[in-house]
Amino acid sequence: MLKYLMFYEDRGLEIAYAEGQYVWDFNGVKYLDMHTGHGVAFLGHRNPHIVKALIEQLSKVATVSTSFRVRVREEMLEILSKIVPSKFEYAYLLNSGSEAVDFALKVSRAVSNRKKIVHFTNSFHGRTFGALSVTSSLKYRKGVEPLLPEVYQAKFNSVEDVEKIVDESTAAIIVELIQGEGGVNIASKEFAKVVRERASKTGALLIIDEIQTGFGRTGTTWLFEQYNIVPDILLAGKAIGGGFPVSVAFLPHEIVSKIEPGLHGSTYGGNPLACAAVKASTEVLLQDSVPRQAMEKGEFLISSLKARLKDVRIVRDVRGSGLMIGIDLRFEPTKLVKCLQDNKILALKAGVTVLRLLPPYLITMNDINYVVEVIGKCIEEFSTRNAG
Ligand SMILES: Cc1ncc(COP(=O)(O)O)c(C=O)c1O
Repeated sequence: MLKYLMFYEDRGLEIAYAEGQYVWDFNGVKYLDMHTGHGVAFLGHRNPHIVKALIEQLSKVATVSTSFRVRVREEMLEILSKIVPSKFEYAYLLNSGSEAVDFALKVSRAVSNRKKIVHFTNSFHGRTFGALSVTSSLKYRKGVEPLLPEVYQAKFNSVEDVEKIVDESTAAIIVELIQGEGGVNIASKEFAKVVRERASKTGALLIIDEIQTGFGRTGTTWLFEQYNIVPDILLAGKAIGGGFPVSVAFLPHEIVSKIEPGLHGSTYGGNPLACAAVKASTEVLLQDSVPRQAMEKGEFLISSLKARLKDVRIVRDVRGSGLMIGIDLRFEPTKLVKCLQDNKILALKAGVTVLRLLPPYLITMNDINYVVEVIGKCIEEFSTRNAG
């Protein structure tokens, strides 16, 4: 019998069934899922519209090279064009967030004839060699360096660093406007503005990684809308497939016109099932006003958490946007995650001291009230224990 190679910790729970915002174990015990497979199941587990679309596509044509046309790809492109700024005339599908990041980095170097890439402290863009090269955490890089050359790190939210480090030799700046894995750290409006301006001034391409923040999670279809800026390359992943493994890079004509045909390729990228999943997910996003729901529910969840935790000394901060929320603590939150799981809520960590909540947009007010009560209770237990 083979053993599965584990990189993530074993949470000691076997999931038998999942639906909407809940999962069940084999004893029929129900859990509220605020982990959603690192943010993937934002549209709910097995969203019926997406399941139907996938089954229908599976029974027609499931796999074919992008050398051949399939109707579902055209239909997907048509609906996707409704949710991105009109400057993005092209979409390219890959299978994971990291691959989309690697692709964007390759494109940036290839079209600009420059080498330098700038990323930020506490960034997380994935674990392939390219994506890892722009991921700051030593924990992931240890033992596998050297990574890509000519990659420079600037301080997140430092306008001075951006002005100092981004110059005329820079091919690309890659940024998350809310850093997910790095600790739910929010880019300031001023920082985002300067990043955009500096990229335009020096001719560097601005890659905004919305693999975690995008597709409605943060309360608008894309988080960059809240900053009044537009990237040169937009990356989406996780939620955009409704559970199907897919990522999307959006590019404008002026970049695509400079890409040589041999630059990239992918066996599975853009396969009909992925196209069906993205098409159906986008239909859900639009038909169910998902970003608005995420904004309203997120505001309620954040304000309820703030009110409940305001006098708890070991809580440093409650922050986020829409349904991407972090509770910054004065301790490492592993035990808190366990306490939540014991109370039938699945959540995850971010950075070193942050409890991260990434619920589906289907979460109800009752669910939210329960979450706030349990988080309050669990954190207070730790406060009392630490004080004692
Ligand atoms: C912002 C961001 N970029 C890239 C990635 C990498 O995506 P994947 O794990 O699908 O390769 C992640 C994954 O958590 C992410 O949060």
